[in-house]
Amino acid sequence: MKNQLLSINDLSHEDVIAILATATQLEKITTGPTKKLPTLRGRTVVNLFFEDSTRTRISFETAAKRLSADVINFSAKGSSVSKGESLKDTAQTLQAMGADAVVIRHGSSGAAQRLADSGWINATVINAGDGTHEHPTQALLDAYTISKRFPDNNRDFSSLKIAIVGDILHSRVARSNVLLLTMMGAKVTLIAPPTLLPVGVEKWPVNISYDLDAELESFDVVMMLRIQLERMSNYYFPSEREYARRYGLNETRLKRMKKNSIVMHPGPMNRGLEISAASADSARSVIIDQVGNGVVTRMAVLYLLLGGATLSEVLS
Ligand code: CP
Repeated sequence: MKNQLLSINDLSHEDVIAILATATQLEKITTGPTKKLPTLRGRTVVNLFFEDSTRTRISFETAAKRLSADVINFSAKGSSVSKGESLKDTAQTLQAMGADAVVIRHGSSGAAQRLADSGWINATVINAGDGTHEHPTQALLDAYTISKRFPDNNRDFSSLKIAIVGDILHSRVARSNVLLLTMMGAKVTLIAPPTLLPVGVEKWPVNISYDLDAELESFDVVMMLRIQLERMSNYYFPSEREYARRYGLNETRLKRMKKNSIVMHPGPMNRGLEISAASADSARSVIIDQVGNGVVTRMAVLYLLLGGATLSEVLS
């Protein structure tokens, strides 16, 4: 495995299986009496967040602490970034503080790659979401959630049909998930209005549909995406009401879904826009499970990238 995680393209299929298997083991250990493992004692993980986050930042912090690493949380708001300090100077300041891993979220696509390639720091870089580019640990936790819900598939998704619905254009979650879910064999369909699909999407290894109702009964997984109003400078659909009517997951659509199928959403949700409250809180929804699975999946990523003691050493 590479010692950076900037994109799902940094991972082989073997790496992904190792991450999911490690997450499974870590979940078993940390849901028992021993919540905390000593494996990253003495290591420092810096959460470097230039964009807002609830789930990703807190779960990386929890994951690092459960592995006994020291954690420094840096948020651009309230830091010297607001006085004009550059990414380079910020990164070098954190390096001087002894960071072993930097978990970076940034509004610019490619920021994580820039940091990793720059030579400014020696630390392992983990992309926690860069612009509209990628969010690899979100895709890993989504794959982990799907593998737990469909355990008979033994981490082979080739019998699964997965719909990713909504604002594909602005979604780093969609990009990472398309790469990862197709690597694992899933048949992925992107469903969105044409205005919310990126240029060149026809070359992606997916089916494209503009109609959520056309094949809704056939999907094992329906992953709803947030409408990213903060990244929209133009009108991409006539009105929120019209969008919810055509592309929102509501009770009527929920009832039509396949037996044992699940509803996912990376969060944060616009309840009433892309997903109704009843759908988000329904028995099919695994949205809260995704959040919990984020901790063990990120523990596995930190554990494997930072090369802590082996699990058998920890367990002995
Ligand atoms: N899914 C996700 O990235 O959520 P946050 O923005 O809250 O981290």
